[in-house]
Parts: sequence; C-alpha cells; structure tokens
Amino acid sequence: MTRLIHLSDLHFGRTDPALAGPLLRTISRQEPTLVVISGDFTQRARPGQFEKAKAFVEAIEAPVLSVPGNHDTPLYNLFMRWLMPYARYKRAISRDLEPTFETPDLRVVGINTVNPFAWQSGKLSARHITRAMEHFGEDDGRLRVAVLHHPLQQPPTLDKPKTRGAKAALTALSAAGADLVLSGHLHNAQAVPFTQVPGVLFVQAGTALSTRTRGTPNTFNQIDLKPDGALSVTVWSATEGDGFLPGPPLSYEKGGTGWVLKGQEFASAPLRARL
Ligand SMILES: [Fe+2]
Repeated sequence: MTRLIHLSDLHFGRTDPALAGPLLRTISRQEPTLVVISGDFTQRARPGQFEKAKAFVEAIEAPVLSVPGNHDTPLYNLFMRWLMPYARYKRAISRDLEPTFETPDLRVVGINTVNPFAWQSGKLSARHITRAMEHFGEDDGRLRVAVLHHPLQQPPTLDKPKTRGAKAALTALSAAGADLVLSGHLHNAQAVPFTQVPGVLFVQAGTALSTRTRGTPNTFNQIDLKPDGALSVTVWSATEGDGFLPGPPLSYEKGGTGWVLKGQEFASAPLRARL
C-alpha cells in the first residue's frame, strides 16, 4: 500500500523540543512510502535553525520530498532574500527546489510557491504549472500529487494574503489530472475537495512542531492509497505525554463529480473540527 506522511511548518527556532523525538518515532512506525514536508522548516532562515532542520530530516528513514516555505528565506536581510533567497535551504535541506518522486502507483511533484518579493503571500506562475503537467504526463492510473507551501484555497474569514495565481493554477492542475494538492502555511489541518475543482483533494497540514499552533494541537497527516483507489486521511495530533495519536480516518472516493467522503455527513467539515 502507498502511504504518504505529510508534515509542514516545522519552524525550527520556535519548536516544542519535546515533540521531535516522538514525531520521528511515530513516522518510522508507520513505514511510509514517502515523507512530504511542505515548507517552513525554520522560523527565520538562520543557519543554526537550518542545522536543526537538517538533523531532523536526516533522522527520517523514508524518502523525503520537500519544498521551501516563505520562512525558509530571510525576512529582514533583504540583500539575501532578493539575491540568494534559497542559499541556506539548498545547503541544509535540498538543492532541488522542485523535486519529483514516483513509484508504480504514484507521481509527486514539488512546486516552489515562495515569492521573495512578497514574502507572506507566495505565487504560482504558468511555468510552475507547465512543469507539473509535464511530470504528471498521460493518465496511467497513478495517483498524481502536487506539493506546495502556500494553500490554493483558504477560508474567506482568514486574515492572510491569498496565494497569487491560485485560481488559474487550480484550473490547470485539475486539467493536468492532479488528484491531490498538499500544502501548509496556515497551521491548520483539513482535507476537503477544492470548491473550484472537486476532483482535486485539498489536504492541508497543521504545524508538526511549532509552538505557534493557533489554538489547535501540533499535527501531521497520514494519507493511505487503498487498492480500490480510495484515499484515507488521518490526522495525528500531539498529546500531553503520549506523543502523537491518530484521529478517526476519513475515507475519500473519487467519482464523476469529484472526491466524496465515504458514508459521512462531514464532507465539507475541517478535520480539526472532529478531533
Ligand atoms: Fe508559511
């Protein structure tokens, strides 16, 4: 069975030190096919923070695919942010800002949405989408997954700048056959079909280690691809003293109208509301 573990927003430099060990042990026990980390490894892109992030990534036994987040480029050092924004990320985490991964059941493509000139909001351009479409290729039945830091959908009430180019990107990713988009940035776990393109499932990871939890526990996602093509999404939450524990899995099936939550009335409810 194909199993993805999806982490995001680790924010080394502002983490709960008691969580990294339990998180690594939990990931190892789940024996994932791939660990996806959708950006914000550090709090302020400082060398010492990247050193800690590097040690954490190196302790993961499974293959890792990651993309940078806005916090992985310097905020205050404008010289570095504009001229060499990814120098430290490349040195510590990965030289490839848009990696790919595939198995006989899976095609995954990373998309770098960081915009050094609009630090918070991020952006997607036609170039990003063209590259993702090329990697997805012809429909051969594999699950097609895009990984990016900035979300392509967010609640209208949320006071954060929206990702530039999100609407056009969603249309193009859907046309390219994307099944799943994994992102972070909001520190809020959820799994719902995109309103604009219900054939693409929007899986958002909370923060796995940061103390900036915004009223929810630290979480990460487990996504299992079942032999019948259904997807099961489980949110693991940090607990007091017992490490990370799984919530109830949500099972999604893809039909003619898009992804549908199997046998549930919670089709549009954020996962965290059920934890
Ligand atoms: Fe972010």
